[in-house]
Amino acid sequence: MDLMEKVVSLAKRRGFVYPNSEIYGGLAGFYDFGPLGVEMKNNLKRLWWKWMTVDHENIVGIDGAIIDHPRVWEASGHIQSFVDPLAECKKCHHRFKADDLTSNICPDCGGELMEPRNFNILVPTELGVIEGEKTKAYLRGEACQTIYLDFKNVVDSTRVKIPFGIVQIGKAFRNEVTPGNFLFRQREFEQWDLQWFTHPNEMDKWFEFWKEERMKWYKELFNGSTKLGFYKHEKLVHYAKKAFDIQYDGKELEGIHWRQDWDLGRHSEYSGVDLSYTDTESGEKYIPWIVETSGGVDRCFLFLLMDAYHEDGDRVILKLNPKVAPYKVAVFPLLKNKEELVKKARGIYRDLRVKKGVPAVWDDRGNIGKRYAAQDEIGTPWCVTIDFQTLEDDTVTVRDRDTGKQDRVNVDKLSEYLQNKLS
Ligand code: GAP
Repeated sequence: MDLMEKVVSLAKRRGFVYPNSEIYGGLAGFYDFGPLGVEMKNNLKRLWWKWMTVDHENIVGIDGAIIDHPRVWEASGHIQSFVDPLAECKKCHHRFKADDLTSNICPDCGGELMEPRNFNILVPTELGVIEGEKTKAYLRGEACQTIYLDFKNVVDSTRVKIPFGIVQIGKAFRNEVTPGNFLFRQREFEQWDLQWFTHPNEMDKWFEFWKEERMKWYKELFNGSTKLGFYKHEKLVHYAKKAFDIQYDGKELEGIHWRQDWDLGRHSEYSGVDLSYTDTESGEKYIPWIVETSGGVDRCFLFLLMDAYHEDGDRVILKLNPKVAPYKVAVFPLLKNKEELVKKARGIYRDLRVKKGVPAVWDDRGNIGKRYAAQDEIGTPWCVTIDFQTLEDDTVTVRDRDTGKQDRVNVDKLSEYLQNKLS
């Protein structure tokens, strides 16, 4: 099994990610996050949101609708250009993205490929209840458009001044022609976007700033992984001066885009509403330029699982950054049939989980070795065991997932001990 197959299998076996509609045979490009997956994904999104809106100044958030006015997608250029040229094999009828091909020979069967044709990947839907009178609309093909639509409202209703940013985490939908590679290319996925609005004279400076800043963030999240790198785009859209991808192991994770005044300019033109900005001090009026950082939450989730996956003999250890691990700590009574141990352990567990807010999980199945193995497999960084010594001196053992090292910690210092490790 290759690494991707192992991760897909672990994700399903332990409740991180399930194929959507599996009992009906599944639906290509759609996935559901299970009990552990949703915790990990929420941790990721919380980290990103805090980093953007608390650790940086002048950034505010929105949460926009998934369906926008159909004209939005004309203005954005998606109706005209959100197309993938595809070449179909005359023999096996498999289709391939023309961009990925180096010849007109089918990579699957060696047959001859037809001339590439265009397929629009926006996902259409219909609004209205009367058959024959429904209006065609689209599920948003990229989350960022809602930020441009709300730009004027944010400026008018808050005290932001250029340079400032608007962020959003939200779903996007694409009729991907070749969905696949698990969470990597889905039809429904989540993006985290920053749109940074700047004066044109400062565009270069801010582009470089956000490019480096985003890489720093990913480096920390991925425990300094050397698999992260930049890819510089040589083929650029007409308004962009530069575009970089942050990649993991050579695959795109996030795009850093020079969007200039394209988006606000187009929406001004198509809506008839002037989206320019007036500097209250200098009186200068201009369409702000935009630096975009647009990443895939699901791709980040997938790459984190792949990066964390380790094997030690027949055991799997998920060396996740503790900040994203679904549970931070597992609590065990040494023996499940000793009432005083169980009572003491339940008290510690509830105190950590309910009073101190530390995501904790209870486990009293099998022996301690099996419990450690089960927690290692889901990335729980610390395991706390309540044993007979606990009943005498109120200390517990805390075992570290990555080193196997055990510390003896006083019960009333336990949450502080864990919080220190997490900070
Ligand atoms: N607003 C700019 C934009 O949408 P993009 O490069 O098309 O740019 C940004 O998408 C990020 O969204 C990508 O870097 C990737 O992480 C993620 N993404 C794009 N298509 C995806 C798909 N089909 N499945 C999962 N993630 C996807």
